[in-house]
Amino acid sequence: MTLDDEKRLAAEAAAELVESGMTVGLGTGSTVAHLLPALARRGLTDLRCVATSPATEAQARSLGIPVEEFNTLQRLDLAIDGTDEVTPDGWLIKGGGGAHLREKIVAAAAERFVVIADSTKPVDALRGPVPLELFTFGLSSTLARLGEDVAPRPGSPPSPDGGLIADYRGPGLDDPAALAARLEADPGVAAQGLFPPRLVSEIFVARGGDVERTTIG
Ligand code: 5RP
Repeated sequence: MTLDDEKRLAAEAAAELVESGMTVGLGTGSTVAHLLPALARRGLTDLRCVATSPATEAQARSLGIPVEEFNTLQRLDLAIDGTDEVTPDGWLIKGGGGAHLREKIVAAAAERFVVIADSTKPVDALRGPVPLELFTFGLSSTLARLGEDVAPRPGSPPSPDGGLIADYRGPGLDDPAALAARLEADPGVAAQGLFPPRLVSEIFVARGGDVERTTIG
């Protein structure tokens, strides 16, 4: 069983949670890329979906999954997304694909946020880096304030919202709540990639041919 097979298994298990008529947030990444065909195969009706990235939106549309702007729906029944790291107590690091700003907005709007992962994603303790999205207004001053622990991600395009994608490689991951608060306190930081357990409902991790489901909150 390859890692890609594990991603597909976790995604297929999560696709079974979606029911006709639901409002659904679609994450971003190679695991979510398996979710979308699994969802399309379900043949559900009256879905209303929002996408966390242009790539997800394009793939969903190509499969016949309806996607709308995220500006009229106030709540989502369910959101499903991948992760870069997940701890046993449900802390995530997301943003390997630079989509963490929209991903966090979608997760926060969801009644149920389900994380899908292959077996390389669970960690005993967060390792980082922590992705950041920085406003371009005042960017030099933001980078100067954040210091040498933060660097723009080489080769990363601007986010769909015009932000610069950067990464934090510094101390503090042993206390993710404090680090999240510190990063968010800077007015130049549009989003940081630490997702707290209170955002997370369930985690589906595929190992070999099995999918382990953990309820967080
Ligand atoms: C994108 C993300 C992804 O969900 C995360 O990087 C995991 O990606 P993949 O499923 O490709 O391993 O946060 O911003």
